[in-house]
Amino acid sequence: MKDYLVTVVKNEKIAENIHAITFLLKEECKVRCGQFGNIAVGGTHLLRRPIAICKVDGREVTFCYQVKGDGTKRLQAMETGDTCNLLMPLGNGFFVEDTEQKVALVGGGVGVFPLISVLRKYGQSKEISAYIGYRNQNAVCGVEEFAKAHKFVGVTDDGSYGEKMNAVQAFEKDLKAGNRPDVVLACGPTPMLRALKVLVEKENLTCFVSLEERMGCGIGACVVCVCDLTNGKKARVCKDGPVFNAKEVVL
Ligand SMILES: Cc1cc2nc3c(=O)[nH]c(=O)nc-3n(C[C@H](O)[C@H](O)[C@H](O)COP(=O)(O)OP(=O)(O)OC[C@H]3O[C@@H](n4cnc5c(N)ncnc54)[C@H](O)[C@@H]3O)c2cc1C
Ligand code: FES
Repeated sequence: MKDYLVTVVKNEKIAENIHAITFLLKEECKVRCGQFGNIAVGGTHLLRRPIAICKVDGREVTFCYQVKGDGTKRLQAMETGDTCNLLMPLGNGFFVEDTEQKVALVGGGVGVFPLISVLRKYGQSKEISAYIGYRNQNAVCGVEEFAKAHKFVGVTDDGSYGEKMNAVQAFEKDLKAGNRPDVVLACGPTPMLRALKVLVEKENLTCFVSLEERMGCGIGACVVCVCDLTNGKKARVCKDGPVFNAKEVVL
């Protein structure tokens, strides 16, 4: 992990309220899929903003972000040539065992972006089925990446793109049709992960979830990001996660 001074290469809209920003690093950086960066957005924002690393191409690193509050508005305002500080790579990331050949990706909202990094890492060596839920067709993004998966099922809350259902329902439908994965990797809003946890426990599937807690330092020092574990202990999402075995974490 290093604090890089990076330069903006491009910053463009990819869907309604969603943008992709690409930074140029001074040197190549080794990243595991599902890891994240903590971006210093400047201004009065002392706290950095944690965003999943979506793509790494040589010295270029791309993050996709939804504009929510002041921090991500500042990110949106960055222009080509601007510089900022970026602490990365952070967290543990996703890992698929050699024995796990069939992988299901279940993602919703901004949870879509770390799953793109999984597809880029394992897309050639594993049989990946991606079940991705969007709010509506204006929020649809990353399709050109997910189309490279063995199977891609895109759905929306209102049925304006794909079937009207959420990502967990799309996964469950395929599961019932006989497409049973060796491992499920998921990222998305907590209610989505909660519903997935119920399903994978019922189906006795191995599942790893990436959590999105509010963060401070991003490196395990401030304990802003703690979550509850099922054994009664607590864990830091930034350092011990953000990826946890679904059965070990309270959602
Ligand atoms: C490991 C990790 C990876 C993430 N990856 C992505 C990503 O790839 N793309 C993306 O768009 N977002 C991602 N997020 C969420 C992102 O960090 C927040 O949306 C962002 O920090 C909000 O900053 P803000 O200043 O714009 O909003 P704020 O003004 O701080 O908050 C605006 C709203 O967003 C909510 N919010 C703030 N921080 C978080 C958070 N960490 N998680 C969930 N809700 C939050 C607040 O409760 C509030 O309702 C990730 C978060 C984590 C922890
Ligand atoms: S954000 Fe500081 S310990 Fe996790």
